[in-house]
Amino acid sequence: GIDADCGHAMPTITLIEHNGTSHTIEAEPGVSLMQNAINNAVPGIDADCGGACACGTCHVFVAAEWLPQSGEADAMEEAMLGMRPDRSEVSRLSCQIEVSQDLDGMVVSLPEFQM
Ligand code: FES
Repeated sequence: GIDADCGHAMPTITLIEHNGTSHTIEAEPGVSLMQNAINNAVPGIDADCGGACACGTCHVFVAAEWLPQSGEADAMEEAMLGMRPDRSEVSRLSCQIEVSQDLDGMVVSLPEFQM
């Protein structure tokens, strides 16, 4: 999409709730996927710690083909993800994914519960 303020394209990201409800948002680059989801009132991301990589309640499953573009989980994120029983190989903490134009078209799924 086009950002009306500055004319720059904004990456479009789709978040799919566990019940199948899909939300396609125009995401703000330079801001985390977690914050973008909250700003767009996408349910299913609790983000209890506000993005400090300390709660694990912003867990998402990145569509496998988008995993490389989403970046690498650092040691702290790995530790948080390791505590999640529903962790999979495509798990990321959405507060640790910084939106950029490279993520235009990305699809992520949300877990049934944030725990
Ligand atoms: Fe707490 Fe991401 S918001 S770990």
